[in-house]
Amino acid sequence: MSAVLGFDLETWAQAQAGQVEQALSNWVANMGSSQASAGLLKLNEAMRYAVLGGGKRLRPLLALAASQAVGGKPAAALRAACAAELIHAYSLVHDDMPCMDNDVLRRGKPTVHVQFGQAQALLAGDALQALAFELLTPDDGSVDSTTQARLCRMLAQAAGGLGMAGGQAIDLASVGLPLTSEQLHEMHRLKTGALLRASVLMGAHCGSPSAAVLQALGDYGAAIGLAFQVVDDILDVTADSATLGKTAGKDAEQDKPTFVSLMGLQGSKDYARQLLARALTSLDTVEVTRPHGTEALRALADMLVNRQF
Ligand code: IPE
Ligand code: IPE
Ligand code: MG
Ligand code: MG
Ligand code: MG
Repeated sequence: MSAVLGFDLETWAQAQAGQVEQALSNWVANMGSSQASAGLLKLNEAMRYAVLGGGKRLRPLLALAASQAVGGKPAAALRAACAAELIHAYSLVHDDMPCMDNDVLRRGKPTVHVQFGQAQALLAGDALQALAFELLTPDDGSVDSTTQARLCRMLAQAAGGLGMAGGQAIDLASVGLPLTSEQLHEMHRLKTGALLRASVLMGAHCGSPSAAVLQALGDYGAAIGLAFQVVDDILDVTADSATLGKTAGKDAEQDKPTFVSLMGLQGSKDYARQLLARALTSLDTVEVTRPHGTEALRALADMLVNRQF
């Protein structure tokens, strides 16, 4: 049971994540032993390996929780949730490559380039990114065209040069440099915060929220987006590789600027708690279209800050 009184996050999250897993498996369709060429089959295998059967699915859960808070359309929300996860999965594949963080372990398995080679990892990332936008633009009438355009725009901005990719560029250019607090915030806001915030807002846009609700959900998303990377930096120091499913201690080894290097372990933990409080306060102003509509968002924020992996 989560720390949000009376709300069973585990049961809720399990049901949502099950739906997401099934949808992702359908959309990153298994070409199996079809007549397709060996190259296509290999790429398909690498894509499924990168996406399925692992990860906390936080971005989809945030999108679905935000949509449910505002009474959004479930069909659109499931697409938004899976699109955000595809961008995230692609970003992990590239983040792990030798030209970036050079990691060999991800989600408890060998990284995609270790398993399939660098060229396949590059292509799998490219293809997952493209698929994310395909999911947002169905031609079966299930998502109206205004919503499609809005979701595409939000995801593109969060993933692009002034979002995740930009943040990753700052990350790589910052190795060994003592960043100021302002610079570190900027880097984390872009490389991780942007997609988490977009996940929340994309979910919200599957309904018809007021400007005030959007503002509040955007503030919530910004606070948890930053808190998430602060905790990622903390866990890199405090957790072990088996628990994380990825190599612990990489940030110090690679001399990356992190919140822990800037403000110490305790300072970072205190800061994550402050950000959690800020996120929860933002939700106080969200008028929702169903009773107790923000419970899942509250419980997710709590989980994301107090997680052990
Ligand atoms: C890890 O993200 C990479 C960062 C953006 C810091 P997650 O911790 O959400 O990774 P998965 O999806 O659970 O594997
Ligand atoms: C990666 O940040 C953020 C992405 C956009 C993938 P990290 O490099 O800290 O993520 P981990 O620790 O490898 O998961
Ligand atoms: Mg990295
Ligand atoms: Mg990394
Ligand atoms: Mg990290």
